[in-house]
Amino acid sequence: MKIFSNPQTIQKSIKNLKLKKQTIGFVPTMGALHQGHISLIRRAKKENDIVVVSIFVNPAQFGPKEDLKSYPKPFVKDVKLCKKEGVDIIFAPKPESMYPKNYLTYINVEKLSGTMCGKARPGHFRGVATVVTKLFNIVQPDKAYFGLKDYQQSVIIKKITEDLNYPVKIITCPTIREKSGLALSSRNAYLSKEELNKALSISDSLKKAKELIENKKIKPVKNIVLEIKKIIKPVTDKIDYIEIRDAETLVEIKDNIDRKVVIAIAAYVGKTRLIDNIVVKPR
Ligand code: PAF
Repeated sequence: MKIFSNPQTIQKSIKNLKLKKQTIGFVPTMGALHQGHISLIRRAKKENDIVVVSIFVNPAQFGPKEDLKSYPKPFVKDVKLCKKEGVDIIFAPKPESMYPKNYLTYINVEKLSGTMCGKARPGHFRGVATVVTKLFNIVQPDKAYFGLKDYQQSVIIKKITEDLNYPVKIITCPTIREKSGLALSSRNAYLSKEELNKALSISDSLKKAKELIENKKIKPVKNIVLEIKKIIKPVTDKIDYIEIRDAETLVEIKDNIDRKVVIAIAAYVGKTRLIDNIVVKPR
């Protein structure tokens, strides 16, 4: 396994692999790898000749009051995990090589970036879109793998590749959960035992919403949101949003759930902001 930190050096190496007709599967991460990331790596291993994992805590996607400084960075452990999974290349750039002092160019996906998580985290998706675009230019993957836990992110990244004509196939993979239902996230490391229990209410409420829509045939958005609130309000510290949106376009569903939708929640447990979602199709 090779580890690169310099964008130009990895670009050259990828160019050589492409000349040898090797296909490149890419798993972009911010490190602190968990089973969710491992599932993406395993899928990439199955579908490509070469697997590249990037480990980069991207400063451009953190707001000034967010957890950039405290974000977990267990680099040695991450490298070991990648080696064990048969990753071929790790790209772990320094912030100054991705964003040198004279850096000026940012990517903004209009409309999609300003809603849901984008409302509570202004600039977040501009940072994600910019770094993913840069990483695609550096790694030039044939396929790139993203977890559906970050549902809005995956829709935005698909839009970038479509709008900017990137020859990259975006593969979205299911959210990996604890047995309890809790969605895996690097930020779960911030939660105490008690908070971990409280956090379960989020996945519980999504499961309940799915059951109400698919089995009990309840369609009004306001009823579903009410049921979710009943479960999460008593145990979370702040609800950023509970939203029901078209699963493909993220257009808001205001009245009745009449198509495949994503129900997405962002809520604080203690000081930790958690997100989760479920895709539901009324029968
Ligand atoms: O999902 C993440 O870990 C990050 O947002 C990503 C896609 C690696 C960009 O920094």
